[in-house]
Amino acid sequence: FVNVFETIIEYKSGYLSGVGTTVSLSLLGVLVGVILGIVLVLMRISSIKPLRWISVTYIEVFRGTPLLVQLFIVYFGLSEYGISTSMFGAGLIAVSMNSAAYLAEIFRAGIQGVDRGQAEAARSLGMGRAMTFRHIVMPQAFRSVLPAIGNEFVTIIKETSIVSVIGLADLMFETNIIRSKTYTALAPLLGAAFFYFIMTFTLSKGIVALERKLNKDDRN
Ligand code: ARG
Repeated sequence: FVNVFETIIEYKSGYLSGVGTTVSLSLLGVLVGVILGIVLVLMRISSIKPLRWISVTYIEVFRGTPLLVQLFIVYFGLSEYGISTSMFGAGLIAVSMNSAAYLAEIFRAGIQGVDRGQAEAARSLGMGRAMTFRHIVMPQAFRSVLPAIGNEFVTIIKETSIVSVIGLADLMFETNIIRSKTYTALAPLLGAAFFYFIMTFTLSKGIVALERKLNKDDRN
């Protein structure tokens, strides 16, 4: 058990390079996911039925199929049709498209959580539907949804470990290299768990601090 620390120290450059890839993929994935998620939720709440239908279908399909299958479709499936991406590109497309579906639902809950009276007051002051949404509902919804975006980020950090199966050198992939070098499994894997935990724990603490700050601001 003690040699977990030895393994981490001896192979720290491998682990850290993996951490770098995992963090960049997760960060970019959530960023693109937020943008796609906003588009999806706008479609979802629009008054145009086909847009609502496309959005609902997208969300159901992406939440109802495994990320592994989605990743394989992007990486192996599309290359049959001449659309080939790098491993990182495929990982980013799959992760962000998957995350967008979850984020769209988070955003919808956030929008529905804004008190009706807020929109009613804005409308009674003469603001139009779009202006009310843009300037009154959206800012409040976005604020209330920030911690949930953080939680999605935590989820994505863990879920990106799946990209190791297509050969993208993330933390999990680097761990497998370390396993093959040491001819052992437990210590390298516990090392991976350690690095994943440092990332998610740090982030969770950040989210709790943010939640506190938002609650405090609300009381002022
Ligand atoms: N393991 C899940 C799957 O295979 C990934 C879910 C991703 N979750 C998320 N919040 N983006 O479908």
